[in-house]
Amino acid sequence: MKTNRKTIIEPFRIKVVEPLPQTTRTQRETLLKEAGYNLFLVKAKNVTFDFLTDSGTTAMSAAQWGAMMVADEVYAGSTSFERFEKKIQEIMGYKFVLPTHQGRAAEKLLFTSLLKKGDLVPSNNHFDTTRANIEYQGAEAVDLVIEEGKDPQLNYPFKGNINLQKLEDFCKQYASHIPCGMITITNNTGGGQPVSMENLRGASEIYKRYKIPFILDVCRFAENSYFIKEREKGMADKSIREIVKMTFDLADGCMMSAKKDAMVNIGGFIALKNDEWVEKLRSLLILTEGFPTYGGLAARDLEAMAVGLEEGMDEDYLSYRVAVSRYMAAGLNKAGIPTLQPAGGHAVYIDAKAFLPHIPQEQFPGQALVCELYLSEGVRACEIGSVMFGKKENNKFIPSKMELVRLAFPRRVYTQSHVDYILEGMGELAERKNSLKGLKFSYEPAILKHFTARFEPFS
Ligand code: F0G
Repeated sequence: MKTNRKTIIEPFRIKVVEPLPQTTRTQRETLLKEAGYNLFLVKAKNVTFDFLTDSGTTAMSAAQWGAMMVADEVYAGSTSFERFEKKIQEIMGYKFVLPTHQGRAAEKLLFTSLLKKGDLVPSNNHFDTTRANIEYQGAEAVDLVIEEGKDPQLNYPFKGNINLQKLEDFCKQYASHIPCGMITITNNTGGGQPVSMENLRGASEIYKRYKIPFILDVCRFAENSYFIKEREKGMADKSIREIVKMTFDLADGCMMSAKKDAMVNIGGFIALKNDEWVEKLRSLLILTEGFPTYGGLAARDLEAMAVGLEEGMDEDYLSYRVAVSRYMAAGLNKAGIPTLQPAGGHAVYIDAKAFLPHIPQEQFPGQALVCELYLSEGVRACEIGSVMFGKKENNKFIPSKMELVRLAFPRRVYTQSHVDYILEGMGELAERKNSLKGLKFSYEPAILKHFTARFEPFS
């Protein structure tokens, strides 16, 4: 909707609803204690606003559910695959399409077939699973995001950009050890920040010059394109579809977790311009995921993706989508709660270190805030700080660089009144922030601590 009004309207009508779980603060105090102060261990039925992730949490449209009903559920040669393949070829311009059950399955497939010990894969920032899948092959995932992208308070339009000078130097030195180069759009690890077309073009030229295949991680490609249209000089008159096409033209292929901008609850794929790697990938796909015309999915999932890819590029939808996180960030900032600037496409990241300076990093300020957001509002958020990335070396605690709390927004699930409701409690939360206490582990797992750890608050 092209108006100057402040109220965000959801660009959809609601046909199917489900009740919003509601609890009292007293009930939540008990629930949180039972869950060892770890929101991953709180049951979803006790969460009012679930902002743990935007991945696989989308509300699908009537058109998607309709398409699922006519899916061709066969083992080989499904008509649904034909529709899915054609849609990706049309939008992205890549001829070879391999479906996978989600993003990390695509990563596993590509890196298993491409990488060997000692190889290097540069990117702006690798997402955790991407990094883990690279490292699993004995290769190294190298982050080359620009300096601006590392400063949470700095407001810069394309904080997801890769440092082109560093990339050039890196490729010059190590080209023969780089089986592929990447860029993640938007840069989730760096706060859902976009990458500009100019930067993508620069990276593409460098990769080309050193004969390094360029693979995009595109789970939020539509949001990235919207930011390009909004923020990049000379791009305002282009349609999202044109910007999307320009983006994909610059690379040799992509991996996608369709659980984000393809508006589905499960799914992913690899798409490639040429056939060089395809045979090997197909064999591996059959070995680990399924026949190449379903790749670990039901045909109905392929149908939902084919429709969802179009819906995710709708400009009214994208402007609403970006407005929601911007509105949430502005509201939090007004209440005195600092957030990573500017707001990302899919999420707002609260800077817990800046907000709660009285809680030392070894007492997990991010986790303290995650707990309080639940107690106060019934919100489930995710700590991205020292619980997730903190380490102990020789019994000495090494904190994470940043202490962030991510509020990631499921697509088409919550409304502006939900956001207003949450923001209403935020001023009050900010006023009593000095009463918030840190936590210590009562159970500390050896790896991937954040999923199963249990805590005790300091009294
Ligand atoms: N790449 C990026 C940039 C991601 O954000 C994710 C997932 C993946 C790859 C892996 O995809 O989950 O389908 O296997 N991000 C989710 C999140 C988990 O909460 O940000 P997947």
